[in-house]
Amino acid sequence: MAIYGIALGVISSTACRNATRSVPFTVFDQMSPAEITEELKRRFRRARRVVVLTGAGISAESGVPTFRGGGGSAVWRGFPFEQISSAEMLARDPALVWEWFNYRRQVISQARPNAAHRALAEWEKRFQSLVVITQNIDDLHRAAGSRTVLELHGNIWRVRCLSCGRVTENRQVPLREIPPTCTCGGMLRPDVVLFGEALPGEVLHRAQAEAARCELFFIVGTSAIVYPAAYLPVIAKHGGAYVVEVNPETTPVSSLVDVTLSGKAGEVLPALSEA
Ligand code: OAD
Repeated sequence: MAIYGIALGVISSTACRNATRSVPFTVFDQMSPAEITEELKRRFRRARRVVVLTGAGISAESGVPTFRGGGGSAVWRGFPFEQISSAEMLARDPALVWEWFNYRRQVISQARPNAAHRALAEWEKRFQSLVVITQNIDDLHRAAGSRTVLELHGNIWRVRCLSCGRVTENRQVPLREIPPTCTCGGMLRPDVVLFGEALPGEVLHRAQAEAARCELFFIVGTSAIVYPAAYLPVIAKHGGAYVVEVNPETTPVSSLVDVTLSGKAGEVLPALSEA
């Protein structure tokens, strides 16, 4: 099963309707530890090909706010984030979009990988193949030491010129010029996927192929409502993988997965490493 050419979009509009909180950061303090079943332990010990799909929740314990969770969704300067992170807004008001990304760059620049990112980096030594597919643009998986990382939505530290197309790294925080310009004089944009844009075809194709052939598929810290990433657990299940969700909340994929570990990624993933 392969899904191509789908622009970034959301299946449920509930979170958008509930766009009430200014940049949400759901903290789950009082969780009882998730139970790691004997079957999961056995599969974890025997697996060779493992894929982990991550979302904003994995970086929550690093201090990066999630977009959704706790029944709400992020608002910045009165704009629902799905509006301010859209191709339409970039065309209409690039300076505003850059202000939003400038803010996010400042938050992310302060963040360090947490125990969940570190556990996944360590899993690379454990399994024959461990692929992290992330919707996050914060670069924290690489900072933790993961090497095989497929970034579905781009990277906040890269910029792309709208005139010459050149992609470069830019770690300036805060930005001195908004919108920033390329050496060719053209306007730069964040090298991230905005709502209404297609995902990078090659990265999506590889992610789908890895999901289709893995034995164990983890879906960690994502609300699983943004497509096409949210199809990946379906592809994995269809391919015969054992699918495990790690999230303190239920999501649309909770009914599809083989087991849900209801807890924080920073506690559940290191606990699995000990299994
Ligand atoms: P969301 O913000 O939609 O969902 C975050 C999920 O993380 C929620 O289901 C929370 O319950 C869960 N969560 C919170 N804290 C957690 C913790 N400590 N451990 C585990 N889970 C936790 O984030 P995404 O699903 O990643 O795209 O959102 C998908 C895409 O929507 C993002 O990549 C972004 C956004 O628009 C772009 O901007 C291109």
